[in-house]
Amino acid sequence: MKTVDWETVRLFLHVLAASVWVGGQLTLVAIVPALRAVGSTATTVAARAFTRFAWPAFGVLVLTGIWNVAALPDEPASYEHTLTLKYVLVVLSGVTAYAHQRATSRSALAWSGALTGLFALGALFVGVWLAQ
Ligand code: HEM
Repeated sequence: MKTVDWETVRLFLHVLAASVWVGGQLTLVAIVPALRAVGSTATTVAARAFTRFAWPAFGVLVLTGIWNVAALPDEPASYEHTLTLKYVLVVLSGVTAYAHQRATSRSALAWSGALTGLFALGALFVGVWLAQ
Protein backbone atom coordinates (compact mmCIF):
# COMPACT_ATOMS: atom_id res chain seq x y z
CA MET A 1 0.00 0.00 0.00
CA LYS A 2 1.20 3.51 -0.71
CA THR A 3 1.84 5.66 2.38
CA VAL A 4 -0.66 8.39 3.28
CA ASP A 5 1.19 11.71 3.75
CA TRP A 6 0.30 15.40 4.04
CA GLU A 7 0.09 15.69 0.24
CA THR A 8 -2.65 13.05 0.33
CA VAL A 9 -4.52 14.96 3.04
CA ARG A 10 -4.03 18.31 1.24
CA LEU A 11 -5.31 17.12 -2.15
CA PHE A 12 -8.12 15.11 -0.50
CA LEU A 13 -9.42 18.25 1.26
CA HIS A 14 -9.00 20.35 -1.91
CA VAL A 15 -10.87 17.89 -4.12
CA LEU A 16 -13.56 17.30 -1.44
CA ALA A 17 -14.23 21.05 -1.19
CA ALA A 18 -14.22 21.32 -5.00
CA SER A 19 -16.83 18.54 -5.20
CA VAL A 20 -19.10 20.51 -2.83
CA TRP A 21 -18.60 23.91 -4.58
CA VAL A 22 -18.86 22.63 -8.17
CA GLY A 23 -20.91 19.45 -7.72
CA GLY A 24 -23.30 21.21 -5.33
CA GLN A 25 -24.09 23.95 -7.87
CA LEU A 26 -24.72 21.42 -10.63
CA THR A 27 -26.96 19.33 -8.35
CA LEU A 28 -28.95 22.40 -7.30
CA VAL A 29 -29.52 23.33 -10.97
CA ALA A 30 -30.69 19.76 -11.65
CA ILE A 31 -33.26 19.76 -8.82
CA VAL A 32 -34.65 23.31 -9.33
CA PRO A 33 -37.55 22.14 -11.62
CA ALA A 34 -38.64 19.59 -9.00
CA LEU A 35 -38.35 22.20 -6.23
CA ARG A 36 -40.46 24.66 -8.22
CA ALA A 37 -43.17 21.96 -8.47
CA VAL A 38 -43.19 21.74 -4.64
CA GLY A 39 -43.84 25.46 -4.10
CA SER A 40 -42.71 29.00 -4.95
CA THR A 41 -40.39 29.29 -1.93
CA ALA A 42 -38.85 25.77 -2.11
CA THR A 43 -36.06 26.87 -4.47
CA THR A 44 -35.10 29.83 -2.25
CA VAL A 45 -35.12 27.67 0.90
CA ALA A 46 -32.94 25.01 -0.77
CA ALA A 47 -30.54 27.61 -2.24
CA ARG A 48 -30.13 29.29 1.16
CA ALA A 49 -29.39 25.91 2.78
CA PHE A 50 -26.79 25.21 0.06
CA THR A 51 -25.01 28.57 0.55
CA ARG A 52 -24.55 27.83 4.26
CA PHE A 53 -22.62 24.69 3.15
CA ALA A 54 -21.04 26.07 -0.03
CA TRP A 55 -19.21 29.14 1.34
CA PRO A 56 -17.29 27.17 4.03
CA ALA A 57 -16.33 24.75 1.20
CA PHE A 58 -15.10 27.72 -0.85
CA GLY A 59 -13.08 28.81 2.17
CA VAL A 60 -11.50 25.34 2.41
CA LEU A 61 -10.70 25.55 -1.33
CA VAL A 62 -8.85 28.84 -0.89
CA LEU A 63 -6.96 27.64 2.24
CA THR A 64 -5.97 24.27 0.72
CA GLY A 65 -5.23 26.09 -2.55
CA ILE A 66 -2.73 28.32 -0.77
CA TRP A 67 -1.29 25.16 0.85
CA ASN A 68 -1.06 23.59 -2.64
CA VAL A 69 0.88 26.59 -3.90
CA ALA A 70 3.16 26.60 -0.84
CA ALA A 71 3.92 22.89 -1.40
CA LEU A 72 4.81 23.34 -5.09
CA PRO A 73 8.42 22.79 -6.23
CA ASP A 74 9.88 25.38 -8.64
CA GLU A 75 7.67 25.28 -11.74
CA PRO A 76 8.25 26.58 -15.27
CA ALA A 77 6.61 29.84 -16.44
CA SER A 78 3.94 27.84 -18.31
CA TYR A 79 2.76 26.40 -14.97
CA GLU A 80 2.71 29.86 -13.36
CA HIS A 81 0.61 31.20 -16.26
CA THR A 82 -1.87 28.31 -15.85
CA LEU A 83 -2.02 28.94 -12.10
CA THR A 84 -2.73 32.64 -12.74
CA LEU A 85 -5.64 31.61 -15.01
CA LYS A 86 -6.88 29.44 -12.12
CA TYR A 87 -6.73 32.39 -9.68
CA VAL A 88 -8.80 34.51 -12.10
CA LEU A 89 -11.43 31.75 -12.51
CA VAL A 90 -11.65 31.18 -8.73
CA VAL A 91 -12.13 34.90 -8.00
CA LEU A 92 -14.75 35.21 -10.77
CA SER A 93 -16.52 32.09 -9.45
CA GLY A 94 -16.70 33.60 -5.96
CA VAL A 95 -17.74 37.10 -7.13
CA THR A 96 -20.51 35.82 -9.44
CA ALA A 97 -21.73 33.42 -6.71
CA TYR A 98 -22.03 36.40 -4.34
CA ALA A 99 -23.80 38.43 -7.07
CA HIS A 100 -26.16 35.48 -7.58
CA GLN A 101 -26.94 35.32 -3.86
CA ARG A 102 -27.73 39.09 -3.86
CA ALA A 103 -29.67 39.11 -7.16
CA THR A 104 -33.31 40.24 -6.99
CA SER A 105 -34.44 40.09 -10.66
CA ARG A 106 -34.95 36.83 -12.60
CA SER A 107 -32.50 37.98 -15.33
CA ALA A 108 -29.80 38.86 -12.77
CA LEU A 109 -30.38 35.48 -11.09
CA ALA A 110 -30.07 33.74 -14.46
CA TRP A 111 -26.83 35.34 -15.75
CA SER A 112 -25.05 35.37 -12.39
CA GLY A 113 -26.04 31.75 -11.77
CA ALA A 114 -24.83 30.65 -15.21
CA LEU A 115 -21.52 32.54 -14.85
CA THR A 116 -20.72 31.19 -11.37
CA GLY A 117 -21.30 27.66 -12.66
CA LEU A 118 -19.11 28.23 -15.73
CA PHE A 119 -16.25 29.77 -13.73
CA ALA A 120 -16.44 26.96 -11.11
CA LEU A 121 -16.23 24.34 -13.89
CA GLY A 122 -13.34 26.30 -15.41
CA ALA A 123 -11.47 26.32 -12.06
CA LEU A 124 -12.06 22.57 -11.73
CA PHE A 125 -10.71 21.92 -15.25
CA VAL A 126 -7.63 24.06 -14.72
CA GLY A 127 -7.08 22.39 -11.34
CA VAL A 128 -6.87 18.95 -12.93
CA TRP A 129 -4.74 20.45 -15.72
CA LEU A 130 -2.31 21.78 -13.09
CA ALA A 131 -2.10 18.43 -11.30
CA GLN A 132 -1.16 16.50 -14.46
C1 HEM B 1 -13.43 27.07 -7.29
C2 HEM B 1 -12.29 26.83 -6.67
C3 HEM B 1 -11.32 25.68 -6.97
C4 HEM B 1 -11.56 24.47 -7.56
C5 HEM B 1 -12.87 23.94 -8.12
C6 HEM B 1 -10.27 23.73 -7.56
C7 HEM B 1 -10.11 22.44 -8.06
C8 HEM B 1 -8.88 21.76 -8.11
C9 HEM B 1 -8.71 20.38 -8.55
C10 HEM B 1 -9.86 19.45 -8.95
C11 HEM B 1 -7.38 20.09 -8.51
C12 HEM B 1 -6.69 18.76 -8.92
C13 HEM B 1 -6.31 17.97 -7.73
C14 HEM B 1 -5.58 16.71 -8.18
O1 HEM B 1 -5.97 16.11 -9.18
O2 HEM B 1 -4.61 16.35 -7.55
C15 HEM B 1 -6.70 21.28 -8.06
C16 HEM B 1 -5.33 21.39 -7.93
C17 HEM B 1 -4.70 22.54 -7.54
N1 HEM B 1 -5.30 23.69 -7.07
FE1 HEM B 1 -7.28 24.08 -6.99
N2 HEM B 1 -9.29 24.49 -6.97
C18 HEM B 1 -9.87 25.68 -6.59
C19 HEM B 1 -9.27 26.73 -5.95
C20 HEM B 1 -7.88 26.85 -5.83
C21 HEM B 1 -7.21 28.02 -5.27
C22 HEM B 1 -7.94 29.24 -4.69
C23 HEM B 1 -5.85 27.79 -5.38
C24 HEM B 1 -4.68 28.65 -4.97
C25 HEM B 1 -4.76 29.63 -4.08
C26 HEM B 1 -5.68 26.46 -6.00
C27 HEM B 1 -4.46 25.88 -6.28
C28 HEM B 1 -4.29 24.61 -6.80
C29 HEM B 1 -2.98 24.00 -7.10
C30 HEM B 1 -1.61 24.65 -6.94
C31 HEM B 1 -3.24 22.71 -7.57
C32 HEM B 1 -2.21 21.65 -8.02
C33 HEM B 1 -1.90 20.79 -6.80
C34 HEM B 1 -0.82 19.74 -7.05
O3 HEM B 1 -0.65 19.30 -8.19
O4 HEM B 1 -0.17 19.37 -6.08
N3 HEM B 1 -6.94 25.91 -6.25
N4 HEM B 1 -7.64 22.28 -7.82
